[in-house]
Amino acid sequence: MPENPATSDDAVLEVRDLAKSYPVRQGLVLKRTTGHVQAVDGVSLALRRGRTLGLVGESGSGKSTLARVLVGIEKPTRGQVLVDGEDVSTMSRGARRELRRNVQMVFQDPYTSLNPRMSVGEIVAEPYRIHPDAVPRTGRRKAVAELLALVGLDPDHVHRYPHQFSGGQRQRIGIARALAVKPRVLVCDEPVSALDVSVQGQVINLLEDLQDELGLSYLFIAHDLAVVQHIADEVAVMYLGRVVEEGDRPAVYKCAHHPYTRALLSAVPVPDPAARSAGTELLLEGDPPSPADPPSGCRFHTRCWLARRLAAEQGLAGDGPDDVPERCRTEDPVLVPLGRGDGARGAAVPHAAACHFAHRAAAFDGRPAAVVPEDAGPDVGPDIEPDIEPDAGLDAGLDADFDPEATLDPATGRAVLRPTRPDHVTETVPDPAVLESRER
Ligand SMILES: Nc1ncnc2c1ncn2[C@@H]1O[C@H](COP(=O)(O)OP(=O)(O)OP(=O)(O)O)[C@@H](O)[C@H]1O
Ligand code: SF4
Ligand SMILES: [Mg+2]
Repeated sequence: MPENPATSDDAVLEVRDLAKSYPVRQGLVLKRTTGHVQAVDGVSLALRRGRTLGLVGESGSGKSTLARVLVGIEKPTRGQVLVDGEDVSTMSRGARRELRRNVQMVFQDPYTSLNPRMSVGEIVAEPYRIHPDAVPRTGRRKAVAELLALVGLDPDHVHRYPHQFSGGQRQRIGIARALAVKPRVLVCDEPVSALDVSVQGQVINLLEDLQDELGLSYLFIAHDLAVVQHIADEVAVMYLGRVVEEGDRPAVYKCAHHPYTRALLSAVPVPDPAARSAGTELLLEGDPPSPADPPSGCRFHTRCWLARRLAAEQGLAGDGPDDVPERCRTEDPVLVPLGRGDGARGAAVPHAAACHFAHRAAAFDGRPAAVVPEDAGPDVGPDIEPDIEPDAGLDAGLDADFDPEATLDPATGRAVLRPTRPDHVTETVPDPAVLESRER
């Protein structure tokens, strides 16, 4: 079982050695099980109270599967889910439902996750059917109006239907629905991926405002490290069902230890030319292998740029998928704390990576990390990680006065704060006359 550096007494939501597999069936009539897709395989993570854990990885790495298990939509094949330190599987049904109320989900696609035949009011009030005790029946109308206002929508639009709203507004409706039963944790599965870049920043800012106001904890899933960079306190990187690196956000972004994380960071556009030219770009070649048949040893070895460079150093050809150090092909690396990230000032989570040669990564690609703002401190080598003041440097400029016209910039990948109050909402809304005629 992999080690669990992230386990925390302060955890509101935690998974231990969690696995979820799906049977692979073949045959037209008599379907036979011919194997299993290991969508999540031995993940241990802790989400701390009032914090945001960013979960990042390519398509198919198991992020949504983990999310579905966390909110109770699916049962794990192995391992534990703990809410407030209590194992959900050992509870009575009633206690489990009450605990589940505290963990709600915001879905990726606001176009398909809202029932088109239900009004906004019905959608937001829907969770009360499962959790009737959350708000007394007589107070629900008022609660829905308050929720709509809270997410920056006009409470008078309660009778409108999803198609009468823009994508960003629909995601606000999805957030209001998730908040209806007063949860303490939101599992946000790529909540901005389906939105135009022009509104991504607004939704991220709304989530941040709500976190401050309501003391929420977020598991924020994204495949884009640029998005997580601005909202996460801690980051976990998944590859083929496993967490391969985790740590406090500044530590991971400043000195990623795992070659996969470094490749993902390398793909994040950097506006600063000096930082951009600080290292070589690390291409992730090909698609991830199938989780039904993961590679032996280290699962990343078929695509690992570091293993290939190490092989070349050892005199191997260094260009075939299995042309890597023997250890990479045969020994499955576990997640272990590395470097001085463990002792970084204020570091809440030990910085850990699952790579036999993590200490060599920075030496080979020549860059401390791809996303290094000018004021983030001195460059660092593989074993010398600087003391990092959480939130210092990386957010510089974000918390200052901001340009209300700016958003998530596709060129730089950097989110820019935008006002989220209703009077500042700039999303396009259909013509009111058209809306009125639809309502009739
Ligand atoms: N119900 C299912 N039955 C069979 N396989 C599944 C099922 N759900 C997910 N998988 C497989 O599990 C793996 C992980 O899928 P998952 O959707 O969790 O990945 P993801 O990281 O969320 O990807 P994406 O970024 O595309 O959303 C994939 O190979 C997927 O095909
Ligand atoms: S263990 Fe080997 S293959 Fe795996 S990430 Fe490290 S260097 Fe690459
Ligand atoms: Mg997904």
